[in-house]
Amino acid sequence: MIKYTITPQESEVLSSKFLKMSHKPVSKDSIEEARQHIVSSLPDLSVMKEELSFGSGMVKFESLPIDSDLPPPPVDGKRPKDKSYYSEHLLCGITSALGMCVFSYQNEKDGALVHEIAPIPSLESSKSSNGRDEFMFHTDGAYLDRESRPHTLSLMCLVNEGNVATDISSLQACLNDLTEQDINILTERLFMHRAPETFNVQSGICQSSVLDKINGFYEIKVATHSTQGITPQADNALKKLISAMYKHKTVSSWKSGDLVVFNNLRTVHGRGEVKGNRWLQRCYGSSFHDNAQVIGL
Ligand SMILES: [Fe+2]
Repeated sequence: MIKYTITPQESEVLSSKFLKMSHKPVSKDSIEEARQHIVSSLPDLSVMKEELSFGSGMVKFESLPIDSDLPPPPVDGKRPKDKSYYSEHLLCGITSALGMCVFSYQNEKDGALVHEIAPIPSLESSKSSNGRDEFMFHTDGAYLDRESRPHTLSLMCLVNEGNVATDISSLQACLNDLTEQDINILTERLFMHRAPETFNVQSGICQSSVLDKINGFYEIKVATHSTQGITPQADNALKKLISAMYKHKTVSSWKSGDLVVFNNLRTVHGRGEVKGNRWLQRCYGSSFHDNAQVIGL
């Protein structure tokens, strides 16, 4: 993982630029404006772009400025009405500056481009970003076809009282622990994938592979708590892959103002139990969609 810590001078420049955008809702135009602010305020991001697409698949920014008057974390999964759009534009601007277009799904959180990730009291035991229980390694949108899946996820930390880390594991490292036969089985359509609990869709199940080889690189789609092999050999290969994920995980602990962007096709992510108040904001990135596009499933 490549890390970049924002200097106090850069933080000051970003603060003044993004403060002027803090009243504007996120839109195609505002994402482009935010991208330009990032490009003109931070050093060249081409090494990070390369790392995201072809390296470990994860990059981190530390000590970004956030809203000066942050309201308490939401308990209904929705953006508090009295919050400014300051952190939203930093999140979308960095995602766009890394070469990704910010998009969302109409079927998830009513199409919001930026998602509030904070436990919802009535859903605390759900296996999703709304819950508090451990959320095992997964990729987002594993049951969707490649064009519809997020290619990157960007997560910005606003509040993290319990110091809950996000664990990310790079597929490249995991594959070194598997035999050629395991990898071949994982590339066959021998697995059932289910839609995540946060997606409001009718038919959320499909039979597919866990690994796909695209342009010479392996990619992954899996939710380890719900994806199942349909033969004993398939299940066995999946178990070996899951154990490699834990062996090779990168623990990304973070605090308010830290932002992680990772490749959803070449890494898996998860976290432990959420303790205390925790509030992240998330956006999806893709090279297939336009900025601010809301797609239906
Ligand atoms: Fe996720």
